[in-house]
Amino acid sequence: MDGPGPVRTAYLDYVARCRQVFTPFAPIELPEFFAGRKETIDDIHGELQAPGRQVAVYGERGVGKTSLALLLYFFAGYDDEQVHIFRCHDGVTFDDIWRALLTNAGHLFGVNGAQAESAHSGEGRLGPVGGSLSRRTTVSFRAVRDARAITPGRILETFQRVRKLLIIDEFDRVQDAQTKTRMAELIKHFSDARSETKIVVVGVAETLNELIGQHESLSRSLAQIGLKHMAEPELADIIERGSQRTSAKFDSSVALRIVRLADGFPHFVHLLSLYASLYAGECLHAAPPGSPHVGDREYHLGLKSAIGKSEHSLQEAYESAVITTRRKSDIYELTLRAMALSEARDVQVRELAKHASYLARSELRPEKFSNALGELVKEERSRILTKVRDGYYKYTNPLMRAYIRLLLEFDNRTQHGGQLEFQYMRGA
Ligand SMILES: Nc1ncnc2c1ncn2[C@@H]1O[C@H](COP(=O)(O)OP(=O)(O)O)[C@@H](O)[C@H]1O
Ligand SMILES: [Mg+2]
Repeated sequence: MDGPGPVRTAYLDYVARCRQVFTPFAPIELPEFFAGRKETIDDIHGELQAPGRQVAVYGERGVGKTSLALLLYFFAGYDDEQVHIFRCHDGVTFDDIWRALLTNAGHLFGVNGAQAESAHSGEGRLGPVGGSLSRRTTVSFRAVRDARAITPGRILETFQRVRKLLIIDEFDRVQDAQTKTRMAELIKHFSDARSETKIVVVGVAETLNELIGQHESLSRSLAQIGLKHMAEPELADIIERGSQRTSAKFDSSVALRIVRLADGFPHFVHLLSLYASLYAGECLHAAPPGSPHVGDREYHLGLKSAIGKSEHSLQEAYESAVITTRRKSDIYELTLRAMALSEARDVQVRELAKHASYLARSELRPEKFSNALGELVKEERSRILTKVRDGYYKYTNPLMRAYIRLLLEFDNRTQHGGQLEFQYMRGA
């Protein structure tokens, strides 16, 4: 049988490169594809060098916490085998976390010195379902049964005099207060003992208290690193690095539009850039093959795909929020779309009415939205909105605004000939 042929090979190569550099659904694993965050990295690096300091990284879902966590070894100058990462799952306990980290770090412990058991038993599983994730460390994983309790003293004794980095990701999944309290205490122990091993706790939260709970004097031991949305130049850098690797050239106007639509979330830059780049690759089929170029056509097609390939949770939340048993209800859709036109994330109802009037091309008063807003915060409408305070609402999922902006942009292009002007696309 014939091989795929040179044309096909070039195309498949190109596709593989696109998927390597634009990863909307996976964290960044290679330093060369990690954009921006210079100050944050310097901050964390400094804290990791400061005796008696541990680190907490918190921020919204999708801002890039896991990517940063996976690459900390590189930015902070650790070797692969010095870093151990545990990813929390729902209902994880303090003991689960530390049993896995102790095991993963090679400190097997058994009853009365008996050796640990063989691989493949359930505890400390690798991979996405639960347990720990450790990309770059122990691959074979030994479960340990141990009668001795996992105490702060014992953990400290194990790690205090070795230089390691212990990263606990998705700590927001911890549900019980006791695990948080024990973690806070352990962090204090590590700091008081000036442990050489450092602990980094990572999770979705608006504040440190939300992540770890309120604990007195934790601020002395724990550096708080709030990860914000990415700035536009950082987002642009994702496209730049990616396109250097794929060698697809992006029109600067397209790159700008992608950056604007992404609303601070690298996820959407990857999503839009990936699909636009894939369409750009079609020219590799031509005879003679062209060189991939992302212009308006590719942007348009990529936008359409990106909407369809957006996270299901976003699509489903939106659909169930706007659909009624009989038909799509205009008022819900209008409300949600008008929200996306606001620059502030906490949207005042008066401003909402102004944007809705623009979209509907008729004057609508704020009162008209009271009912819809009251419904959109309810479970039946997937709690798509949250009431912030009197007269102010926001999307419950911060990624929702970008998703709806994608919808707005697409409809503007297909139904309004691009005539609508959205503030957030200014200059693009
Ligand atoms: N610094 C970065 N440079 C480029 N892409 C990034 C960066 N940080 C995150 N991403 C991308 O953004 C998306 C979300 O990243 P992730 O680290 O999973 O966020 P979080 O853990 O905060 O939810 C992924 O598609 C990831 O590839
Ligand atoms: Mg994450």
